[in-house]
Amino acid sequence: MERDAQIALLERVLAQVESDRNAYGPAETRTDPRTYWEPERLRAEEPLFRRYPYVVGHASEIPAPGDYMTHDLAGVAALIVRGADGAVRAFHNVCRHRGTRLVGDERGHAKAFACRYHAWTYDLGGALKHVPQRDAFPGLECEEVTLAPIPAAVHCGLIWIAPDARAPLDIAAHLGPFGAELATFGLGDQVVFRTNARVRRCNWKLIVEAFLEPYHVRTLHRASIGRYFVDRGSVFDLSGAHIRSCVPRHNVRELLALPRTAWDARVYATTEYFFFPATILVLNPDYWSVIRVFPHGPEECWFVNSLLIPAARHTDAEREHWEKSYQLVDQTVFEKEDCEIAESIQSGVRSGVNASFRIGRMEYPIRAFHDSMERALGLR
Ligand code: FES
Ligand SMILES: [Fe+2]
Repeated sequence: MERDAQIALLERVLAQVESDRNAYGPAETRTDPRTYWEPERLRAEEPLFRRYPYVVGHASEIPAPGDYMTHDLAGVAALIVRGADGAVRAFHNVCRHRGTRLVGDERGHAKAFACRYHAWTYDLGGALKHVPQRDAFPGLECEEVTLAPIPAAVHCGLIWIAPDARAPLDIAAHLGPFGAELATFGLGDQVVFRTNARVRRCNWKLIVEAFLEPYHVRTLHRASIGRYFVDRGSVFDLSGAHIRSCVPRHNVRELLALPRTAWDARVYATTEYFFFPATILVLNPDYWSVIRVFPHGPEECWFVNSLLIPAARHTDAEREHWEKSYQLVDQTVFEKEDCEIAESIQSGVRSGVNASFRIGRMEYPIRAFHDSMERALGLR
């Protein structure tokens, strides 16, 4: 975020703190519990995960030509490769002979990709280079056969793909003004400290919603991170279907005594970016959380979180600090608090006890998220 924008955001937060208010949406609204378990609803939603870009990793995870990773969580088997020219590309991880999964490992390094069934071999750019007993395929024009490409792009270090994108990916345009802010916070200069991917027993939207409202921070998280935040002062902004929210930290009033040149949004507030449909980036004081959620059935989902840290070499003390951060934020706050709450909602969602869920004005981004979903599904 440019300095001016960062200061303007902190000014708004501080004004809210001073007047003891949180940002409110225009009205109290409702959501429909059936959207969290009905199979037809999920069938409609799943294609969105292939139409909108999602993050498969960080470019620093495949730094050298020939480095690759696979990703299977959005219903598509994807192979992401850094080519000989240094560019990152994505392909369907499917052999063009009879469809064998080409690469089994999650991560690795290769000079070329040889299918283990009959050894059709592809170069790092996806071109078919070798077919054993070539004369058995008189109709095959090797130069016309490539691995099936998936639209991919790197933006601020994050690798985004969209298997069913209708046009080449323009991530900067897709993310809009919030995406531009990521660069100014140095997201591209980070490396992955650790990634956690786990199936949780709840609809994917329930986890997304846990990241869209600060109403629960001082209650659900009271034993973990609640004390780091004040109860009032949050703000949120919508940009198309994307949402940015900012929650003041406990030290926010120190800003009153500081010149604006010393204001730092990472120290005095936690800013979170939600990119539709299910990518969440949290700017913590000295690291990022990169969260992705993918459906895995109507009442199950993948929760994936990577903790990103500055790329510089680290001392043992610094690594211990990141380890503690990972244990606190990923293993406790996300896994034991946010995800468990989502599962506990799921356990009663079919009960019919609540004909609808009440969304308070402070939770308005949840309503905005449902509105965006309904628009994307053509329901409004
Ligand atoms: S299926 Fe891959 S070479 Fe035959
Ligand atoms: Fe939370």
